[in-house]
Amino acid sequence: MSSAADRQAGRLHWGILGPGRIAPRIVRGLRDSPRGLLHAVASRHADRARAFADAHGGDEPVAAYGSYEALLADPRIDVVYVALPNGLHAEWTIRALEAGKHVLCEKPLALTVDEVDAIAAAAARNRRIAVEAFMYLHHPQTIRAVEIAHSGALGPLQVVSSAFSFLLDHPEDPRIDPTLGGGSLWDVGCYPVSISRRLAGEEPEAVAALARLDERGVDRTFVGQLRFPSGLLAHFESGFAAADRERVEIVGSDATLVLDSPFLPEPDGPPPRVSIRRDGAVEEVPIPSVDSYRAEVDDLQAAILDGTPPRVDLSFSRGSIASLVALDRAARTSAATGPAGARTNL
Ligand SMILES: NC(=O)c1ccc[n+]([C@@H]2O[C@H](COP(=O)([O-])OP(=O)(O)OC[C@H]3O[C@@H](n4cnc5c(N)ncnc54)[C@H](OP(=O)(O)O)[C@@H]3O)[C@@H](O)[C@H]2O)c1
Repeated sequence: MSSAADRQAGRLHWGILGPGRIAPRIVRGLRDSPRGLLHAVASRHADRARAFADAHGGDEPVAAYGSYEALLADPRIDVVYVALPNGLHAEWTIRALEAGKHVLCEKPLALTVDEVDAIAAAAARNRRIAVEAFMYLHHPQTIRAVEIAHSGALGPLQVVSSAFSFLLDHPEDPRIDPTLGGGSLWDVGCYPVSISRRLAGEEPEAVAALARLDERGVDRTFVGQLRFPSGLLAHFESGFAAADRERVEIVGSDATLVLDSPFLPEPDGPPPRVSIRRDGAVEEVPIPSVDSYRAEVDDLQAAILDGTPPRVDLSFSRGSIASLVALDRAARTSAATGPAGARTNL
């Protein structure tokens, strides 16, 4: 039997900042990966880090740190996964890059374009890779849907229509904290915006938006529109006040492609399903079920170890954040200038 050192040799050592709800998904993705392993986890509370390390540690022991700084100081760590609330992403991504680590940072990568530019500068300065964790972009159903749309099989693209919502009912949740980048646009609206831009293959030239803001100015329901230079139009809904809902429709002149579970397919949601509706007939496109978190881990590890370009690069993330900032501004402008009642307290 090989020693622990042998089993670890040549594998990228990962550290996690923030042992919260999403972190176990990356642990699961790493567990099956021959190229990486979980080395350490950090929490602001040492006991929480220890509990997470013990619960998720597999065969190899996992180090537990009681501060994020301590994890960044660990020279054995190659890659840091930033799984913190949105408002902390840019700061800790930059601090990890400055510590010489590669970074997988949860979406949204930042809350301003200036922050994305600072991340890009830190990555270049330290010769490290930083990528935004849009796991669904690594799933074969997303890749296949974009290929089909770009192939012309749907005819000239006209409209992308998408939605992502769920019911958020924890009053203390960071996702509704205005000081931490709260709001449904930033949390789940970023998915429809990113698939629309991926399909367009360019950045929007105009956006419009309406939102229901709560008493702290955080959007609980958001409706946005984008117009791309090609003429493609996109509209989407995101929300924290509606039942679970996710859907993407890609409407061409000849056919419509529908993704029933575009953002959280199996193993975290329903089976992937891509269907093309044309002249009253429905064609199902066969799609394998994979773990999209494993796929995003593999993609970053290949970028680090093989030099392949990451599927979600910083210029894509920069466009994402620019669109989200513009949509947020548009919704706030319409709330401020609209008729009485446009700003709604939930
Ligand atoms: N890709 C996906 O599928 C997906 C799904 C869900 C969420 N996300 C993203 O992942 C990130 C984390 O989401 P999550 O649901 O895992 O978050 P969470 O459980 O609410 O928080 C994650 C961790 O952040 C740390 N934290 C640091 N400062 C905090 C503060 N002021 N308030 C609360 N927590 C703080 C906490 O760790 P300690 O207190 O232990 O240090 C906490 O465990 C978010 O950016 C979210 O958008 C992605």
